[in-house]
Amino acid sequence: MSKNDREILPQDVLPLHYDLSLEPDFKTFKFNGHLELSLDVVRDTNTVVLNALDMEFGSVSVIIDGKETPANSSNFDEEAQTVTIEFPITLSKSADPVLSIDFIGILNDKMAGFYRSSYKAPDGSKKWLATTQMEPTDARRAFPCFDEPAHKCTFSITLVTDPTLTALSNMDAASEVIKDGKKITTFSKSPLMSTYLVAFVVGDLKYVESDLFRIPVRVYTPPGMEERGHFSAELAAKTLAFFEKTFDMPFPLPKMDMVAIPDFSAGAMENWGLITYRVVDLLFDEKTDGAATKERVAEVVQHELAHQWFGNLVTMDWWEGLWLNEGFATWMSWFSCNNFYPDWKVWQNYVVDNLQSALSLDGLRSSHPIEVPVKKADEINQIFDAISYSKGSCVLRMISKFLGEDTFIKGIQIYLKRHKYGNTETADLWNALSEASGKDVSHIMDIWTKQVGFPVITVEEDGTKVTFRQNRFLNSGDVKPEEDRTLYPVFLGIRTKSSVMEDLTLDSREITLDLGSDIDFYKVNADQSGIFRTSYPPSRLAKLGANPQLLSVEDRAGLVADAGALASSGYQKTSGLLSLVSQWQDETEFVVWQEMLSRIALIRNAWIFESPDIADSIKILQRELTAPMAHKMGWSFSETDGHVESQLKALLFSVAGHAGDETIIASALDMFDKYSKGDKSAIHPNIKGAVFGIAVKELGAPAWDVLLETIMNPISTDEKNTAYRNLGRSNDPELIKKTIDLLFNDTIVKPQDIYLPMAGLRTHKEGIVALWKWTKNNWDEIVRLLPPGLSMLSSVVSVTTSGYATPAGLAEIEKFFKNKPTKGFDQGLAQSLESVRSKLSWVKRDTSDVKKWLKESGFYSKDSTRL
Ligand code: BES
Ligand code: ZN
Repeated sequence: MSKNDREILPQDVLPLHYDLSLEPDFKTFKFNGHLELSLDVVRDTNTVVLNALDMEFGSVSVIIDGKETPANSSNFDEEAQTVTIEFPITLSKSADPVLSIDFIGILNDKMAGFYRSSYKAPDGSKKWLATTQMEPTDARRAFPCFDEPAHKCTFSITLVTDPTLTALSNMDAASEVIKDGKKITTFSKSPLMSTYLVAFVVGDLKYVESDLFRIPVRVYTPPGMEERGHFSAELAAKTLAFFEKTFDMPFPLPKMDMVAIPDFSAGAMENWGLITYRVVDLLFDEKTDGAATKERVAEVVQHELAHQWFGNLVTMDWWEGLWLNEGFATWMSWFSCNNFYPDWKVWQNYVVDNLQSALSLDGLRSSHPIEVPVKKADEINQIFDAISYSKGSCVLRMISKFLGEDTFIKGIQIYLKRHKYGNTETADLWNALSEASGKDVSHIMDIWTKQVGFPVITVEEDGTKVTFRQNRFLNSGDVKPEEDRTLYPVFLGIRTKSSVMEDLTLDSREITLDLGSDIDFYKVNADQSGIFRTSYPPSRLAKLGANPQLLSVEDRAGLVADAGALASSGYQKTSGLLSLVSQWQDETEFVVWQEMLSRIALIRNAWIFESPDIADSIKILQRELTAPMAHKMGWSFSETDGHVESQLKALLFSVAGHAGDETIIASALDMFDKYSKGDKSAIHPNIKGAVFGIAVKELGAPAWDVLLETIMNPISTDEKNTAYRNLGRSNDPELIKKTIDLLFNDTIVKPQDIYLPMAGLRTHKEGIVALWKWTKNNWDEIVRLLPPGLSMLSSVVSVTTSGYATPAGLAEIEKFFKNKPTKGFDQGLAQSLESVRSKLSWVKRDTSDVKKWLKESGFYSKDSTRL
């Protein structure tokens, strides 16, 4: 597809400046708008085409040299989301026309455009606020506009509100007057920016402020929550200073506001100078929230702040370049987190987080290249996925390691300076990096961003000679020759006992090296810097498994991850993975444990619909693997515990407990009992999820009721979400039904949280089936609640279909969607079905291999008294 296939607005007239005034009404849930849009006429014309959706026009005219001419007509095209305005006069190139439109829009409840959000005031009453979410293509719901990232303009925004409410926008307030009982706030003129970054918020808001940066940095919340904003306000202030230094470029706006919004479809949105967040992704309190939540908040805040430069100051010219935004902000949030919290060792975590998300999605036929052609609006939401974020950031991590981090940052500075207030394509980034490094960066990187997929490197040994061969990797393991034509430039990164061969690139099909005495010990892809999997001969894998002390943390986690992925796709046997993890019981690092345990959980999951012997045996393995270390480390937490150490304790406690460790279960139930009786501090935040889950499984209805009570009166949003996630843990049909019934009960579960109660249900087969039945039986209502233009529908489809790994389930899902429009979620659905298919072949292929290993290792449930 070429650039010409993009469905974009005509280029006869271009926007220069928006003078926009809006007045939201919380009684009618509508807003009055007035727009004066200055235009540049490129070609003489009497029509103007711009984006507008779900709004009505009042008077429409054009003003030229002070003379106003009403329009003949305004025709809306709902499908194209445009309006064509026709004038009785020609707008000529020499004129400076101003388009003037009065309009009425809907303050909708769909978390898109200018929308309403509700919260419970401290006195218990329901209150409203109004906020925006424009990215990618919903600014057109808030005001008529040229809603494409390349049309950068300046904005002067005015909000007309009740005088008691706070009104915020991207810029600072230039004036505030009270007229006829209303407050009129006019904000300073913005710098050149894209429409998807425009924002305004109106509501009864309180704030806390940090003065650690040269401009005010505030966290706004609905009343009563503001004190929980200190952590983010302070981190944001320090991060802004750090980014100014790193990018060698000042933050150009006069203030930075960050707002916690009670109804929010994504996690956060980087609107320039006015970042909006889901409540849990902004507010944090050490006393009530756990270590994992702290890390998530830090990640989100730093991610959105990185966008202030990468995305807001310099913007992709079209959505095809979305990865430039999201991949970079993802990489940068890790870079920044590592700067502020070196003891969190986030780059180690990267290997089990972004790298694995990228590889697991990109191993599907239904994946897509990082630079994916997008034609029109409804295709855009679906590319906010692990390819743009995770694979995008992996590509940057790879090139930053190859060039060296300092050179990489120098290149970024060149790129930002050269393109500030402008738009770019991927090639512009490569050019800047080439300039900084003197290396031909596009030559190395083009394949990685333009081609789908990644390779598996197969290692073959012959004496001291080793052959490394690359082929496309698919999760289903059935690559056809025509799918295996791309040769990726792969940095092999061979680690030996003494060093790493940094410059060794494999850009042909295969290469043979004589490793000499290094044959004794070597590992491919040192620190998992490259985007590929490595398949060793079983004897080599066993050798590596026997020498974990020679491997870095990243290497160990990566070895397990690769062994897991190669097993589930059929390149290797699952017994190889089981042997590897079962001998690493003394592992001390959190991320390695995380990967070991998640790979074992994937096995248990894949066999969940089979006869119970395998899943039961895997449960014994999970318990025997984790219990000794869990007991050694214990499950009490103190101030002196390290951040990572706390998370390891919590992980081992959770897995051992859910796998049936009696002591842990007893202890969990004891904590839960105290908690139920009102002692809210009886369960440490780090293990609250595990305790809630164990309690619901063991005690059933009484525990479910306690969780519901927590949801109604939580001590923090983090606690509320933890309760949602564990409601569905029990496979008691009554409780499954009660949990399912909550999904549509929007006084208890807001649409933004609909996937949270699904989490517990996905842990057992009865829940998985119930989830699918719910989707099937309520499809029309689901689509009504979560329209296809938003990303939520796609996640609901993925979450409720991807677990149903039986041939009958697969057939049923396929049949159900066969004659339905799949607009907005076709990719998610295809990815889900493909994952189910590979799971089914994995089970078919390896059932006897797994059973044999379990028997030989003494974990087989039917032979065991340990169940
Ligand atoms: N630009 C996105 C928000 C967004 C996502 C807008 C999808 C429209 C559609 C924002 O920068 C973002 O990436 N948010 C992430 C959090 C981040 C830490 C990965 C999110 O919302 O989860
Ligand atoms: Zn982002």
